[in-house]
Amino acid sequence: MTQDEMKKMVAEAALEHVETGTVIGIGTGSTANHFIDGLAAIKHRIDGAVASSKASAERLAAHGIPVLELNTVDGLSIYVDGADESNHHLHLIKGGGGALTREKIVAAASRKFVCIADESKLVDVLGSFPLPIEVIPMARSYVARELVKRGGQPVWREGFTTDNGNIILDVHHLKIMEPVKLEQELNDLPGIVTVGIFAKRPADVLMLGTPEGVKTLT
Ligand code: A5P
Repeated sequence: MTQDEMKKMVAEAALEHVETGTVIGIGTGSTANHFIDGLAAIKHRIDGAVASSKASAERLAAHGIPVLELNTVDGLSIYVDGADESNHHLHLIKGGGGALTREKIVAAASRKFVCIADESKLVDVLGSFPLPIEVIPMARSYVARELVKRGGQPVWREGFTTDNGNIILDVHHLKIMEPVKLEQELNDLPGIVTVGIFAKRPADVLMLGTPEGVKTLT
């Protein structure tokens, strides 16, 4: 089974979490895209969706699924999104696609966060995947120096601008032993908009596509 087939399988299994008559949050990436495509078949059951990126909003709209602004809804029943890495506590690294800020906002506004991924994303210690950090452009060098002091090797994702007009630093060589602590510490650095560690608000459910079927961790 290919990685993409595992992503599709887990995305389709996650449809069981969709609550009828509610607005749901939708993430970004190839796994989230499979979820959007599956959602099209049951779109009459939901009131609409809030997207974490322009790309996902366009895909939802192409399927005729109503795309709502977060400010116009009371709250979201679930948030379904992929991840770049997850540990066994369902702490995540996200932001490979650069949509981490909106993803973190939509996740925070949702009662339940269902993370969907192929089995390769499950790791013992976060950090092999370079940690994406969204930074205000004028703070790029300052923040990079602060990250070097903490043992990381930040690399500017050149030529990439986020949906919010900011830049991304991908931080290599971090072994994130205390995700909640590092997320908080980096949140406190001026110039950082969003850290790609999702540990203070981890996933509630992790569904993994494997050659043996879907495995669920809670
Ligand atoms: C987007 O910014 C990321 O957080 C994605 O959730 C992540 O990159 C997962 O992508 P795939 O589903 O394409 O693996």
